[in-house]
Amino acid sequence: MCGIVGIISEKEVSPLLLDAIRRLEYRGYDSVGMVCIHQNKLSARKDAGKIAEVDAKLDFSSLKGAIGLAHSRWATHGGVTRANAHPHYDCKQNIALVHNGIVENYDELKKELQQRGHSFSSDTDTEVIAHLIEENEADDILDATRKALHRLEGSYAIGVISTKNADELIAARKESPLVIGIGDRENFIASDIPAILPFTKKVIFLENGEIARLTREKVEVFGLDGIPKKKTIVAIDWDAKQAEKQGYPHFMLKEIFEQPFSISETIGERMSEQDILLDKEIQGAVPNPMEIKRLIIVACGTSWHAGLIGEFMLEELAKIPTEVEYASEFRYRDPIIPDGTAVIAISQSGETADTIAALREAKKKGAKVIAVVNVEGSTIARESDSVLFTHAGPEIGVASTKAFTSQLTMLYLLTVYLAEHRGILPQDQIRNRIRDLRKIPHQVQEIVENQESIKELAELFFRHTNALYLGRGINYPIALEGALKLKEVSYLHAEGYPAAEMKHGPIALIDEKMPVVVIATKDTRTYTKVLSNIAEVKARGGIVIAIASAGDNEIKEKVDHVLYIPENSYILTPLLAAVPLQLFAYYVAVLDGKDPDKPVNLAKSVTVE
Ligand code: G6P
Repeated sequence: MCGIVGIISEKEVSPLLLDAIRRLEYRGYDSVGMVCIHQNKLSARKDAGKIAEVDAKLDFSSLKGAIGLAHSRWATHGGVTRANAHPHYDCKQNIALVHNGIVENYDELKKELQQRGHSFSSDTDTEVIAHLIEENEADDILDATRKALHRLEGSYAIGVISTKNADELIAARKESPLVIGIGDRENFIASDIPAILPFTKKVIFLENGEIARLTREKVEVFGLDGIPKKKTIVAIDWDAKQAEKQGYPHFMLKEIFEQPFSISETIGERMSEQDILLDKEIQGAVPNPMEIKRLIIVACGTSWHAGLIGEFMLEELAKIPTEVEYASEFRYRDPIIPDGTAVIAISQSGETADTIAALREAKKKGAKVIAVVNVEGSTIARESDSVLFTHAGPEIGVASTKAFTSQLTMLYLLTVYLAEHRGILPQDQIRNRIRDLRKIPHQVQEIVENQESIKELAELFFRHTNALYLGRGINYPIALEGALKLKEVSYLHAEGYPAAEMKHGPIALIDEKMPVVVIATKDTRTYTKVLSNIAEVKARGGIVIAIASAGDNEIKEKVDHVLYIPENSYILTPLLAAVPLQLFAYYVAVLDGKDPDKPVNLAKSVTVE
């Protein structure tokens, strides 16, 4: 969950490294460091703190050298201290290393290395790698690193430089993401694409167990056995501007506002007026939709919430029995996957360790896997039988917003496609479903344009310490997601609950200080029931904020505050109801002086288990 970058160039690299590591700060932000080789010596600066604070103190851009590494840390082993910040070194300080991942056998390796006389300067697992490389210092840096990697258990993406081979940058990965950028007489490594987008759009994705040597002129990739590998250079179609704030105070706000566009991008060319066009994309995993008997969705965090809504869509419209599992639980059970089961792995980053493990478990048991993923070239995208890219563009804010609504859009497209190809929905209904989705980008636009009322509401509530979110049916996961957003960025205690279940516990917490956000959109199934739940909250003095359908004037009499969303079909309301809750969480955090882009302790991409 740390971010790493490395650059070898003909010019000074420190300003470029600083720019790139800033773009990765969302991956981890408790410490930062940079190292370059100048006049055949390592020259490094590092400290605990956010990049801007540490840079103000240490002035990274003044480091000299045309080859270097940088690191943004999210602590796993060893406290948040200067000594534990990366880079880490060998005993003689000839080798410098940055690492993302966990060396699981580091304790045993450290003891062994100490017995052989190595002295350690940090409490990290990472430092053992530098000393292991040092053990093979007679070899060139590529071979020395390759040999060291054979000793490691766990996960790693590393960048290594050495004064002995000062014109080579070594990179390797196992289970942690790493991408190589190909420039003009300069080459790059980074934990993900947005970090190097301003420099190049040509990339090579390193696979597990591969190691690369970057010089200014070329990139060579080898297996850990030293055998050269042929790699494809992929052209990335993201624009560097998409990874900028573009005048917004935070990425989170920018990404919330981008949703009309990102949802349209997800739809892309996948719909005509009467058809969902997914044949090609889905073929690898689902050659014949009639043969699917069961679906299992695996995901984590916000993507798991998207999965819960997907379950509702798939059962309701495509009539396929669907289960949703936390990837982290699924992988440690012995899940039963009968014939005819397909697994859907949902992930923004495509690099969440537990989702990757769940996908592998499913494949091992013979299931085909469909990935719903945002990042091209990511591990989940590469390992799945079919990939449905969400095309939301780079999502930088740690709390997922636009990726979520794009996932919902993709799941809806998949559902309607399956419903059509299984002969469940007649043609006129398919047309209506398509028409409903076409309205969504404009309707989301309407919500974000009318954000004033949401801001005002946040002003009333940002000093509260608790909140309860309630929803029913397809909007129950929206209650979970609304609560998660608030928790993530404002650190307020918030719980999401199925509205009727409130009576079995949370009702005990309701008093005149408890704000209760209720998704109470008008539909024939749950609306009246939700009104009863609202009455139960009001009877106990709770403060009710309702997310209601435009035109529902009666609800005003029953609750304290109303945020209206445009009307659409019931099954698409989550795409609309999510948006005011994202904005509410954002403004509560900002009013309370929190940085919503960098919530404490969280990381955008959870690449450790
Ligand atoms: C982290 C992020 C969440 C995200 C979750 C799953 O917890 O902070 O925003 O929903 O990981 O990530 P994924 O990339 O697999 O969707």
